[in-house]
Amino acid sequence: MKAISIQNLTVDYGGQVLAVDDLSLDIPSGQFLAVVGPSGCGKTTLLNLLTGLVPLEKGQIDIGGRQPTAGDPRVGYTLARDSLFPWRTALENVCYGMELRGVPKAEREARAHDVLKQVGLDGFAGHYPKALSHGMRQRCALARTFCLDSEVLLMDEPSVHLMHKPKSSWRIFCCRCGSARGAPSCSLRMI
Ligand SMILES: Nc1ncnc2c1ncn2[C@@H]1O[C@H](COP(=O)(O)OP(=O)(O)OP(=O)(O)O)[C@@H](O)[C@H]1O
Ligand SMILES: [Mg+2]
Repeated sequence: MKAISIQNLTVDYGGQVLAVDDLSLDIPSGQFLAVVGPSGCGKTTLLNLLTGLVPLEKGQIDIGGRQPTAGDPRVGYTLARDSLFPWRTALENVCYGMELRGVPKAEREARAHDVLKQVGLDGFAGHYPKALSHGMRQRCALARTFCLDSEVLLMDEPSVHLMHKPKSSWRIFCCRCGSARGAPSCSLRMI
């Protein structure tokens, strides 16, 4: 079954920059896909389209029978920047997405502690982002996304600051963490 279908996708940012040029791609359910390309080739643009952050102008995107919309609970997205709130602890940052989705406090904190442990941050739940390294902040941001149990998991350069795991074991790491409470139907990782 196709989880994501992309047909003849083109993005030219108002005729200024051709960031995506007639891309067609089907991503089956259960697939872990990495997209590799040089800086500026359009990887982040593609993720932003899949999450509805950049409006679709030319081409079609189908995620489980629907067009992308911002805030779609079926889609989890970790940005290339860790984008943690500086005034929230690691635990509170990880809980943020679950708060928005109305997960009860006790359940979201239990889930956050569990996923923080999986990404190697047990013992740092009470630390603020300024007291974490770049890699730790990135893992915290990944934990926030993993906690959402999204059907589709999108990650932009998730391993760029990470030495916690050898990069070769990333597929296993992400699948295990991302599927702690049920496997995502597909994962798309930009390197
Ligand atoms: N909001 C925007 N408005 C105009 N042009 C943009 C916008 N966002 C990105 N671009 C342009 O689109 C092209 C692709 O950018 P994008 O960020 O998708 O690349 P990337 O492959 O993710 O690069 P990197 O590996 O450096 O993160 C670049 O030429 C960039 O200047
Ligand atoms: Mg990018």
